[in-house]
Amino acid sequence: MAPGRAVLALALLGALLVRCGHAKEQAPAFDPLDYVDPLIGTGADGHVFPGATLPYGLAKPGADTDSSDNQGGFASSPPANITGFSILHDSGTGGAPSLGNFALFPHASCAGGVLERCVFSKKARKTGYVNGSVVSRPGYFGVKLATGVGVEMSATRRAGLFRFSFEGEGERKGGPVLVMDLTDLSDSRQDNATITVDSRGRMTGGGVFKPSFGSGSYAAFFCADFQGPVGESGVWINDRASRAVRNVTVSRSINNYPLPAGGWVGFKEGTREVVVRVGVSMVSSARACESAEGEIPGWDFEGIRAAGEAAWREKIRPIRVSEEGVERDMLVNFYSGIYRTMVNPQDWTGENPLWSSTEPYFDSFYCLWDSFRSQIPFLVLLDPKQTARMIRALIDIYRHDGWLPDCRMSLSRGYTQGGSNADIVLADAHAKGLTSGIDWEAGYAAVVKDAEIEPFDWCCHGRGGLDSWHELGYIPVGDFDWKGFGTMTRSVSRTLEYAYNDFVIAGMAARLGGREGDVEKYTRRSGGWLNLFNPSMRSAINGTSTNFTGFFQPRYANRTWGYQDPLKCSNIDPNPNSVCSLQNTGAETFESSVWEYGFFVPHDQATLIGTLGGPETFVRRLDFLHDSNITYIGNEPAFLTVFQYHYAGRPGLSAKRAHAYIPSSFSPTPAGLPGNDDSGAMGSFLAFAMMGAFPNPGQDVYLLTPPFFASVSITSPLTGKTATIRNANFDSTYKAIYIQSATLDGAPYTKNWIRHDFFLRGGTLVFVLGRNESTWGTREEDLPPSAGRYGYEVRNLTARVRAGTVRYKYSEGLEAGQQYWGAGR
Ligand SMILES: *[C@@H]1O[C@H](CO)[C@@H](O)[C@H](O)[C@H]1NC(C)=O
Ligand SMILES: *[C@@H]1O[C@H](CO)[C@@H](O)[C@H](O)[C@H]1NC(C)=O
Ligand SMILES: *[C@@H]1O[C@H](CO)[C@@H](O)[C@H](O)[C@H]1NC(C)=O
Ligand SMILES: *[C@@H]1O[C@H](CO)[C@@H](O)[C@H](O)[C@H]1NC(C)=O
Ligand SMILES: *[C@@H]1O[C@H](CO)[C@@H](O)[C@H](O)[C@H]1NC(C)=O
Ligand SMILES: *[C@@H]1O[C@H](CO)[C@@H](O)[C@H](O)[C@H]1NC(C)=O
Ligand SMILES: *[C@@H]1O[C@H](CO)[C@@H](O)[C@H](O)[C@H]1NC(C)=O
Ligand SMILES: *[C@@H]1O[C@H](CO)[C@@H](O)[C@H](O)[C@H]1NC(C)=O
Ligand SMILES: *[C@@H]1O[C@H](CO)[C@@H](O)[C@H](O)[C@H]1NC(C)=O
Ligand SMILES: *[C@@H]1O[C@H](CO)[C@@H](O)[C@H](O)[C@H]1NC(C)=O
Repeated sequence: MAPGRAVLALALLGALLVRCGHAKEQAPAFDPLDYVDPLIGTGADGHVFPGATLPYGLAKPGADTDSSDNQGGFASSPPANITGFSILHDSGTGGAPSLGNFALFPHASCAGGVLERCVFSKKARKTGYVNGSVVSRPGYFGVKLATGVGVEMSATRRAGLFRFSFEGEGERKGGPVLVMDLTDLSDSRQDNATITVDSRGRMTGGGVFKPSFGSGSYAAFFCADFQGPVGESGVWINDRASRAVRNVTVSRSINNYPLPAGGWVGFKEGTREVVVRVGVSMVSSARACESAEGEIPGWDFEGIRAAGEAAWREKIRPIRVSEEGVERDMLVNFYSGIYRTMVNPQDWTGENPLWSSTEPYFDSFYCLWDSFRSQIPFLVLLDPKQTARMIRALIDIYRHDGWLPDCRMSLSRGYTQGGSNADIVLADAHAKGLTSGIDWEAGYAAVVKDAEIEPFDWCCHGRGGLDSWHELGYIPVGDFDWKGFGTMTRSVSRTLEYAYNDFVIAGMAARLGGREGDVEKYTRRSGGWLNLFNPSMRSAINGTSTNFTGFFQPRYANRTWGYQDPLKCSNIDPNPNSVCSLQNTGAETFESSVWEYGFFVPHDQATLIGTLGGPETFVRRLDFLHDSNITYIGNEPAFLTVFQYHYAGRPGLSAKRAHAYIPSSFSPTPAGLPGNDDSGAMGSFLAFAMMGAFPNPGQDVYLLTPPFFASVSITSPLTGKTATIRNANFDSTYKAIYIQSATLDGAPYTKNWIRHDFFLRGGTLVFVLGRNESTWGTREEDLPPSAGRYGYEVRNLTARVRAGTVRYKYSEGLEAGQQYWGAGR
């Protein structure tokens, strides 16, 4: 803790010196936290957690509201009542509210100073808060309740420190009463939650709860200590409290009404301030007490707060943009997005009761379907040391749980949305050379298991329909699958995701070496996407043809075509009743349309472009996808489509498209996010798009566009080297957003993409911008790598598909694919 405070003191001193004019040469101290607003995404359906946390912290104290969209605890709009201040949260998630356990709630006093007149259950005790009183900063959250009680919180890794302040003493009879609740945010608590209150007011206990988007249950424990003039204490059930009963074990519910129960502690009349330390553990309440005592021995609220700020500053500092000429909103969007990428996943090392291991354990991978696309790739860049520990945790989950997760929260298996996308997370880190302590042989075994062995229950890991995938090269609609069981929908999007999963496995095999057979096999399987391409399929909007022909379509095992309107489950789905999620009546595409999935061939854009009729048609189709609002930037499948113009030789259109969405769809306000932040996925989209290098995840490829700032510098935490992307003639009105020419360390650079080693080696990439597209980055040799060949039109496709003879074998592509894997190594 002390070093953090020292850092803060130095920063303050630095600022002071500048203000006093003693350091004229020095620019004012740059503090990235000045641009972090954790309240972004707490309105509308952003579901962002705005409370106090360390980067990846387990303890996440924050306010909970009784509104819808309170998945992250506190929803700042519409106005709602606060039900309490709980200690565990997730951020930005969909599904049910996640965690939200062991809420504290303050009463300034019980009416007339009579305990029996206090209310305890969250329905009864909830109260409004003073408009404008919410203060949220990295590592700190504060709010003033309508009752006049001030509530502040800060956090260490496994404990929260709360400060309650009570004003107007003397006007009330009786002292404050603090309530501890065993009920969680989504009322999922199961039987036999317990609480024990000792004579000094220490409360310990725990309960079993349900994960918000997964199967099974999890246990959580706490330990709360109170600093202040402690008076009486006891337990409560419903709205009745006892001084005599010191412990209680409660059933889940009576007639489905979740039974409210917990502990309470009173304080002497006239008490102005009470500090509460709450340790949390997934192992035991004894462990929760140890963590609290170990991490917050001194009860120093300001010290804990400063240490939290320092931890965040340290994390974000490696990425520094020029503030010159840009609006503050742009900076806030950028740095707040970065902040949100490190709230989840959560480092629960030492808190995993499920198996014993010396490997790290991370939880709240919620879900990899969202975070493989840019969030975890962003952390590979900005925080490789912790990301290596995340990868080790994923591999350890495979070791002990049998499989890599696709989604995981609260010690439970989460639901798989499509492919086995942990494969992409691992491959991305592998392609970018992440090593530190990662057992890549085990990692490779884990992804091969996804590709080869079907789990009996593929709800929550692995893939379904593997026999069909291996034999037919696609997942048939209405598959016959007797080996494993899961929701038999999403045949189109699962096929596309499995294809890409296999491709990145081929990449890992190629880099690990000595696995030529695997490289060949998985590269071949990665061509399965073409089996679902129906070249004669058309799409119409309200009866008017879009004039595009050829879309992915569901296909039966006998190779005849099924049908799904290409607009189904799109943002302009003509059918308001379409079922697009994991319901067993769901569509053949998950949470998006055939139109949008039509671009999801991240490994072989060259062949896709040929299949769709060449680069011009491809570009018109991408334009149509965006301009007709078929896509929705608030869902992750849209991310890559913003930048796919690069593959058709039009990198300028990617830049144009990025500016079309930022800031119009991402504003630095509570309701400013399009949809759920998804554990920071939206934040990472902003971060990458605004810094001008967007990843094609799973590959060693960043697609280049001009940064939204005069320059962006990233100092690699691994090498200490700084990579800078600079706009030589930055235009803050964003009219000149087209790269005319570029240099890398002074030499001309014509490729429209760059590899990760730029960020490891350091260097300077300079863009000269103009108001029109140029020829920069447009030649075939300047385009990003692709498994197939550019300019190779898939001849006779219609005839071959009709004849059922398309068994995509990469006869031409494989050679290019091998060159690709061999390139640069
Ligand atoms: C807060 O709760 C009170 C009491 O139940 C209720 O009257 C009030 O409408 C609530 N306010 C909001 C904003 O939900
Ligand atoms: C809170 O204050 C803001 C302006 O400061 C105002 O727009 C908003 O309506 C207020 N909300 C309530 C519930 O009074
Ligand atoms: C809860 O405790 C009761 C009484 O000891 C016991 O009968 C019951 O099996 C317990 N339930 C669970 C889920 O452990
Ligand atoms: C709970 O309280 C009872 C008395 O009511 C006591 O016998 C028992 O030991 C207590 N249990 C714990 C765990 O403190
Ligand atoms: C289709 O037509 C209906 C009725 O005119 C209209 O409300 C709707 O917005 C149209 N949809 C699209 C995607 O243009
Ligand atoms: C399709 O082409 C026809 C004929 O050129 C044209 O009238 C129509 O507007 C086009 N449709 C769209 C959606 O562009
Ligand atoms: C193929 O299978 C589907 C689904 O079972 C069936 O409806 C269709 O008639 C079959 N087509 C042929 C040509 O057998
Ligand atoms: C797409 O949505 C935007 C914003 O909602 C709207 O301004 C625009 O008119 C829409 N475009 C079409 C083609 O519907
Ligand atoms: C940019 O393009 C516009 C037309 O799109 C043209 O009028 C203008 O002259 C071009 N500017 C330059 C500098 O080439
Ligand atoms: C495939 O294309 C070739 C040359 O373009 C043509 O000779 C041949 O007839 C085509 N095959 C089919 C099945 O259409």
